[in-house]
Amino acid sequence: MNNMNDIIEEIKSRNDIVDIISSYIQVKSAGLNYKALCPFHSEKTPSFSISTQKQMYKCFGCGEGGDVINFVMKMENIDFMEALEFLAQKSGVEINKGKISDESKENINKKQKLYQINLDAARYFFKSMSDLNNTGYKYLKNRGLDNKVIKYFGLGYSRNDWHDLNNYLLKKGYDQQNLIDAGLAIQTKNKKNYINRFRNRVMFPIFDHRGKVIAFGGRVLDESLPKYLNSSETILFNKRKNLYGLNFAKKNIKNDTLIIVEGYMDVISLFQYGIKNVVASLGTALTIEQAKLIKKYANKVIVAYDNDEAGVKATLKAVEILNGVSLSVKVLNLGKSKDPDEYIRTEGLDKFNISLKNAIPLIQFKINILKQKYNLNNDQDRLLFTKKVANTIKNIKSPIEVEYYVNKISKETDISIQAINSEIYGKYYKANKNQKEIKQQIEEIKIKKNGIEIAEKQIIHIFLNESKYRSDILMNLDIDDFLLKESKEILNYIIKSNELDIITIDKLKNLGISEEYIQDIYNINIDSNVNLNDIIKTLQKNSLKRKRDYLLKRQHELQQKKQNDKNIEASEVDRELLDIAMKIIRLEKEMKNIL
Ligand code: GTP
Ligand code: MN
Repeated sequence: MNNMNDIIEEIKSRNDIVDIISSYIQVKSAGLNYKALCPFHSEKTPSFSISTQKQMYKCFGCGEGGDVINFVMKMENIDFMEALEFLAQKSGVEINKGKISDESKENINKKQKLYQINLDAARYFFKSMSDLNNTGYKYLKNRGLDNKVIKYFGLGYSRNDWHDLNNYLLKKGYDQQNLIDAGLAIQTKNKKNYINRFRNRVMFPIFDHRGKVIAFGGRVLDESLPKYLNSSETILFNKRKNLYGLNFAKKNIKNDTLIIVEGYMDVISLFQYGIKNVVASLGTALTIEQAKLIKKYANKVIVAYDNDEAGVKATLKAVEILNGVSLSVKVLNLGKSKDPDEYIRTEGLDKFNISLKNAIPLIQFKINILKQKYNLNNDQDRLLFTKKVANTIKNIKSPIEVEYYVNKISKETDISIQAINSEIYGKYYKANKNQKEIKQQIEEIKIKKNGIEIAEKQIIHIFLNESKYRSDILMNLDIDDFLLKESKEILNYIIKSNELDIITIDKLKNLGISEEYIQDIYNINIDSNVNLNDIIKTLQKNSLKRKRDYLLKRQHELQQKKQNDKNIEASEVDRELLDIAMKIIRLEKEMKNIL
């Protein structure tokens, strides 16, 4: 079995999804299927359903779903390959052993050795620090770290010695070449001698997301350079693909959000204060690989880079990359502090939490930067500022978001909305263009409603008459995706009762479904070339559109309220408006993803 697909199939066939899931949570048999309380969201009545036939699970409450491998990935917080390995071991399948080439076998052994070396080195550095109660320890104490966090992150000290670690590891039985391959020893220029890479530095073990030590960062104790030294890149350590702190952060995701910072000290310091969903990109520009890694654990990111010119530049780049993998991104406002470490130390946890809650979208971040450059009390500056902002706003795709910022800037600068819009759209700008676009969107939805009802009734027809398609439909649609209350009732009934037979008209009448609806369902025309998948997609799309429709309405209401009622808290309304705008954008993205 060398083919990956064969391996996956074999593993799936040997790990019954019900067995695996029931080793984590209590499941209850219900006809052909099983039910349980969903482990991925909190609920009191079970909406988590397992199909034995399809070997799939789906939660109708939170939408989570997939096969046995997805389930293990999610439960154990591990990636696909790790889940495969995990299940292979459980079911006694030897994934590859004996089948993989000697070359990759050697590679695996080598990796294992390097993991062990790194772990031994980390213990040695940690011990060196506690042994001596030395300068390294004092340095960390001075920076405000307590013993608990020092131990948790395994911080240590590399002595001011050319050979101690190298000799220690040799004595443990490793080869000199191993130590070079691990990035811990270097050969002297004359090639006669081997020395420690790290000397007289506080040591930060770098973990992979599973918590294995794969490298080190070492910081000088004074102002000398380089401030930080890393292990060289090794077969274990690729800086571009790793995020410092992810092994801890992934267990502490809050509000579906990860915070991304620049440095080791930011991660550790925030952690000590109780903010634990933090990772560091370690001073390099954020890579796409790192963004994808984040996306595995959270859908939202707050960028909290340093408050200097380099940090601002890095922020702009990072946001672009994070947006590129469909993460929703906001930026933390650090006030006058130079980095998150300093911010939480000077302002405290409560203030930090408030800042997290008030994290701003990229456009606002850009506007804030411009604001610092101009004096808004000076007429000419104000004009220049407005022009620059208009230029930034031009790049926003959503008309709703454009409108939000135009309004805001108009208020702040006292320049009319009309003038700012002309600046954005050029002299051909027509008044109320945005309002018109919004109304048009709502109109389109209304016109399509008729078509939606037909698609929905077609699905219910199939659902009632062809039980073999039921799981397909249930796996792909939530009750919320249906528009008509009758459809919802029918689905609810079937899920709750696990009704497996054909549903008779009498049963429907007993459920209180109207004659008219029943007639429609039974008489509806299903063309032989209508594809079930297409209907499902239509419903998914329309469900997203409906959510957007609702948000558009709410947006109108809020705008009216703002105009008519002078007493309301404007900043609260603004925040909700912005939140709505962001949600609309996300829904539109999701719609595009349904082909
Ligand atoms: P402190 O100055 O100790 O508070 O560290 P910091 O974590 O705030 O560092 P800084 O903001 O200067 O840099 C952010 C991150 O970039 C660091 O945590 C390092 O990972 C990385 N970095 C900074 N300086 C160097 C350097 O000289 N070499 C390397 N390889 N990385 C560096
Ligand atoms: Mn910093």
